[in-house]
Amino acid sequence: MNDNRNEALKQSGVLFVLFGATGDLASRKLYPAIYSLYREGKLSDKFAVLGLARRQRTREEFHQDVLASIQEFARFKVNPEDPSWQKFVERFTYMPLNTNDAEAFGRLNELAGELEQKYRIAGNRLFYLALAPELFGNVASNLKSGGLLDCEGWHRLVIEKPFGYDLPSAEKLNEQIQEVFQEQEIYRIDHYLGKEMVQNIDVIRFANAFFEPLWNNKYIANIQITLSETVGVEERGGYYDHSGALRDMAQNHMLQMVTMMAMEPPSRMHPEDIRDEKVKVLKALRAFTSSEEVRSNVIRGQYIEGMMKGKPVPAYRSEDKVDPQSTTETFFAAKVLVDNFRWAGVPFYVRTGKRLPVKTTEVVVEFKKVPENVYLASRTDLAPNLLVFRVNPSEGIYIKINAKQPGSDWTILPIAMDFCQSCGVDLNTPEAYERLLFDAARGDSTYFTRWDEVALAWRYVDRIAQAWSGDKTDLQLYAAGSWGPDAANELLHRDGFHWWPVNGQEESEVVWVESRPQ
Ligand code: BG6
Repeated sequence: MNDNRNEALKQSGVLFVLFGATGDLASRKLYPAIYSLYREGKLSDKFAVLGLARRQRTREEFHQDVLASIQEFARFKVNPEDPSWQKFVERFTYMPLNTNDAEAFGRLNELAGELEQKYRIAGNRLFYLALAPELFGNVASNLKSGGLLDCEGWHRLVIEKPFGYDLPSAEKLNEQIQEVFQEQEIYRIDHYLGKEMVQNIDVIRFANAFFEPLWNNKYIANIQITLSETVGVEERGGYYDHSGALRDMAQNHMLQMVTMMAMEPPSRMHPEDIRDEKVKVLKALRAFTSSEEVRSNVIRGQYIEGMMKGKPVPAYRSEDKVDPQSTTETFFAAKVLVDNFRWAGVPFYVRTGKRLPVKTTEVVVEFKKVPENVYLASRTDLAPNLLVFRVNPSEGIYIKINAKQPGSDWTILPIAMDFCQSCGVDLNTPEAYERLLFDAARGDSTYFTRWDEVALAWRYVDRIAQAWSGDKTDLQLYAAGSWGPDAANELLHRDGFHWWPVNGQEESEVVWVESRPQ
């Protein structure tokens, strides 16, 4: 199906209408992504970018911005003297726009039409809102009244998180957007779904006889998902202090990772079938029914000053634009249960936080131990088998198994078989945004979140937020550079488990067997 889509995109082209063209996202992710797609031949010459923001920018200044962003952030570097660069960048046009000025959208429509004619684009428009969500509703209705949706080809809307602050606000936002766009035209970005190894979870699970038969509560003891960051809130204190880790990471990225690990195999590789399966997982999440349940299964923390890579770093409360009395959580850990036949009794332990010791995204599947039968009766300390998905910063999987130490009688060693996908010298893995932008342009919505997923995730998270809103005494402080509050370890210890070391911190006794792409 995607071969046809790829071809259709090349043949009929696309106009990217980018709101927030002078912002951070455009510069760090979107311009580099468009450039990579062009360099790799996924976009033909039939494309153009219409950048919009409040600020005045000349065409030349805009081109300089695009060049600077690509030089700094893209996978491919540019020689600005090269004629191919000129050919690329001439397709970028800037128009200053106040999103409240409905009349300006009429002019925008004219300009869009001119660009489509010039670059032989068949009226396909991708509206990308790299904007504050408060503006989404207004922009959507102005796009409609300005005639921008009356184009000859398709039109799609790509929006960024945060998608609401809770379920009621998300519903309101959704209603505003759906007054103008149909669900299948809306592409809600969760950039974790664009990561290569997150997409690989499906393949590893469903394309391997090794794993799928074991993927259930008979064989799996627990699943651990870690999304750790070394950075603090940087310049985003204003946003983050009203959001916190629960809304910033858990409602979206984290629960999406849980659905990818827990979903049933879809009956067809069709976006709606895949998303239907994810929805079933979200429906099966065991909801917390009281504040006591939240307290015993969910941990929140906030970083105080500490040391990162040998340098002192300030406390969260001293960060720019953060309330000095703030009780916002910068760390979140929880025991999540999926109440269905496959997963009954298997805890999913999740954790995320800022100012933790390493930047990593990793999923560990811990298998149950083998029976301690006659053969292994004397060995009660056998390590469990692990299957680890490394999403970030290195990409790959590793499997930990037990084997006999050569030459010994009974010495059993854990052996790690390591497949490092990102270690190959010639591998230049596409960035998440590149893949997602391409998918949106070719009309593949598999790795975008559908409204029912978003709503169910908010329903789960809102119960935690409600329990947290009154008494804040469970907020625990942790030193920057540590792994968060001790209570997050206790969450596993009381079930007889512990967090497995993550990327870069592997256990020293493991013997490594490497397997790299040739
Ligand atoms: C974003 C959050 O969605 O994801 C940020 O808003 C966070 O707070 C970021 O830093 C992490 O993304 P990645 O791809 O760097 O793991």
